[in-house]
Amino acid sequence: TYVVTENCIRCKYTDCVEVCPVDCFHEGPNFLVIDPVECIDCSLCAPECPADAIYAADELPPDQAHFLELNAELAQVWPVIAEARLPLGEADLWVDRGEKLQYLER
Ligand code: SF4
Ligand code: F3S
Repeated sequence: TYVVTENCIRCKYTDCVEVCPVDCFHEGPNFLVIDPVECIDCSLCAPECPADAIYAADELPPDQAHFLELNAELAQVWPVIAEARLPLGEADLWVDRGEKLQYLER
């Protein structure tokens, strides 16, 4: 599976969802996740993310490893998103700030 990691939080550019052939992205208030059961590992989404937040599970940076479980968990409760929206208002201010997990809204 592919995994959405910390740099998506408070940005949510949503370019990723436009290219997913199986609509396996799920949307929360300020973060997206990928359903690991539905993802077919096509890899199309990763280069689309302006925040470079999407990784293959086996290539996750060590400090992002916990996002694998978080994606699986939240994909079960958040609704599917299949069409891009406008990014969050302050996306360009928050991208690459780091330490954003504390701001995750569920
Ligand atoms: Fe969708 Fe492919 Fe990305 Fe998986 S790797 S989330 S199937 S675009
Ligand atoms: Fe998030 Fe990147 Fe998609 S910021 S919403 S993973 S395009």
